[in-house]
Amino acid sequence: MSLSPHFVVGPLNRRIFGSFVEHMGRCVYTGIFEPDHPTADEHGFRQDVAALVVELGATIVRYPGGNFVSNYRWEDGVGPREERPTRLDLAWRSIETNQVGTDDFLAWCERLGLEPMMAMNLGTRGLAEAIDLVQYVNAEPGTDLADRRAANGRIKPWDVRVWCLGNEMDGPWQMGAKTPEEYARLAEEVGRALKRFDPTLELVACGSSNRAMPTFGTWERVVLERAFDHVDHISAHVYYEPHGGDVDSFLASGEDMDRFISSVVATADHIAAVKQSDKRIMVSFDEWNVWFQERFGGEASLGFEEGRELIRDVYSVLDAVVVGSLLITLMRHTDRVAMACQAQLVNVIAPILTVPGGPAWRQTIFHPFALTARHAKGVVLSVGGDIPSVATTAYGDVDQIWSTATWDRESGALTIFAVNRSRTEPCELNLDLSAFGDLAVEEHLTIHDEDHTATNTQDDPERVVPQPGRSTLEVGHLRATLPAVSWHCIRITPPATAPATAAQTSPNVTTEGFSS
Ligand code: AHR
Repeated sequence: MSLSPHFVVGPLNRRIFGSFVEHMGRCVYTGIFEPDHPTADEHGFRQDVAALVVELGATIVRYPGGNFVSNYRWEDGVGPREERPTRLDLAWRSIETNQVGTDDFLAWCERLGLEPMMAMNLGTRGLAEAIDLVQYVNAEPGTDLADRRAANGRIKPWDVRVWCLGNEMDGPWQMGAKTPEEYARLAEEVGRALKRFDPTLELVACGSSNRAMPTFGTWERVVLERAFDHVDHISAHVYYEPHGGDVDSFLASGEDMDRFISSVVATADHIAAVKQSDKRIMVSFDEWNVWFQERFGGEASLGFEEGRELIRDVYSVLDAVVVGSLLITLMRHTDRVAMACQAQLVNVIAPILTVPGGPAWRQTIFHPFALTARHAKGVVLSVGGDIPSVATTAYGDVDQIWSTATWDRESGALTIFAVNRSRTEPCELNLDLSAFGDLAVEEHLTIHDEDHTATNTQDDPERVVPQPGRSTLEVGHLRATLPAVSWHCIRITPPATAPATAAQTSPNVTTEGFSS
């Protein structure tokens, strides 16, 4: 395989490292927010969780749903906490106390340096409420809604840039689900009105809930035919699991995400062509992750409860490798994926788990996310070459090594991200880097374990952590051993900026150093 500084996909969109906070299960209550917790700050938010969120490196965070948003009244969650109503949430059949709402979430984001991405209810509500919400959040004081915000403690507008026009409106499970035509009309109306309020807002139209939806393709076409001029992005959602125990296809999930993105881009560009427009609609991959839906009985069977545990999936080494490969896929599409949100952030299909009143810890999937968000910098380069294939039932033959690289022109730092997608076969990565001149391996970290089922638990929260990998860099050629089911982050720098260790200055380098 080879890499060249001349083959650039595009600047890395850092919003690809987004996350998602939904009022669901224990994501908000006893997740990010727990006023009685020993680490709670004066606003009631857990500081142990906040520290992990910062370490994770999440950039943009979507809120407040998800399915929840499609029956949510934003007004319930603002103003004095003691006056906020308790309501039934029909999406997850839970009791919502509204102790956390729009202002609380936006203030939390501001304290942590996160960019908020707000979703609005276009299920049980419509245009009028959408306009009200955006004014409440973003208008300058002097008119009623902005003055209400000011009276609630926030004078300055929050200036939220990104707004999702509903959630999964194609899904029959959604409150107020719509046909493509119904949603297209609504997205057009809401988009037009919000752009009139502020043409610089970035609006995300709902795309498909996954690539297998019966309306996939048609939905995107019909929605963009009407809303093209009034929106900037179209969403995509997907969750992966080893269906029926098919681990080979599960390891190749990035293939599905890759084809999904290409299809949505093709559809959006078709509409642009028909409209004779050079506008490029970007993909907002605002829900993705591993989720064992086969184990979830569905919400319909649940009784109404407050603060119930819901889909608190515990992730293995195998799942972490798949998550790493999905991040690689998103980066490979940096020219057309504007943002992406791993769903969700805490306790619900999440990289962070907590115990009410107790500790918080990193799941296995935390590590590839955090390392990618930390070390991917500059532009994304396309990787090419001869790659052996592995056979899968779901996607046919796929590349065994799934990789990408980022290159920071200023510092000259190159970072290679690679996954060996074979369940059984190790392989050698042989990457020609000679086009970059003198380089040295600074650090090689891997997620791998002989036991692919190993997990992190409350009792053993560091059972799975990044380990040093093995690579050599000799006359411009990087060689690395990639065991079966492994994810890698290999950081390569010009020798002057690499730490001057004996190993790294020798022409035949083996790195075994690990720093977190
Ligand atoms: O993230 C969990 C749920 O998955 C979200 O509420 C919904 O949008 C999706 O179906």
